[in-house]
Amino acid sequence: MSLPTRPLTLTINGTQHGPIDVPEGMMMIDVLHEMLGLTGSRFGCGQGICHACVVIWDRDERHSETVPTCITGADFFDGKRIRTIEGIAQRDQKGEVTALSPVQQAFLDQFSFQCGYCTPGFVNAATVLIERLGRAPIARQDVEATVAAALESHICRCTGYVRYYAAVRDLILATPGLTRDSV
Ligand code: FES
Ligand code: FES
Repeated sequence: MSLPTRPLTLTINGTQHGPIDVPEGMMMIDVLHEMLGLTGSRFGCGQGICHACVVIWDRDERHSETVPTCITGADFFDGKRIRTIEGIAQRDQKGEVTALSPVQQAFLDQFSFQCGYCTPGFVNAATVLIERLGRAPIARQDVEATVAAALESHICRCTGYVRYYAAVRDLILATPGLTRDSV
């Protein structure tokens, strides 16, 4: 007996995929890992708590948010545009990484991660935050709290929080246009 399927079409990292037949009820992380070969998102808790599995959903030109793929069915993403961790760095025509994103480079420079299992989730969350501040800069004194609010839902079992938070804070403060001097 074969499972009923539903067609799924979506854009991932700028490339359209589908329609592909996805078993009904399949979670998005399984589609990414098992059907599309995009294994960078991490399956951690499987309950929507750790956020290691998040992808970026680009709702429109001005609104992006992270979505946990372990508890979100593939259906939800039909017709949508998302970015996975594989789409964050710059790549050449062959798909080889040519440059890390500013967030990835900052995490590397500050030794933010240890085992790295949680890192794709932190990269995606910080990327969404940096892009948001590019559209709507915040006061410099609010940076610390803003970073904490953006990353607090992400769990790191190696307890690497301090360097993750510091890397994003320093990147924001060093990037022109993300902050303003006063309220
Ligand atoms: S694996 Fe998805 S939130 Fe933990
Ligand atoms: S670096 Fe190991 S879980 Fe975060």
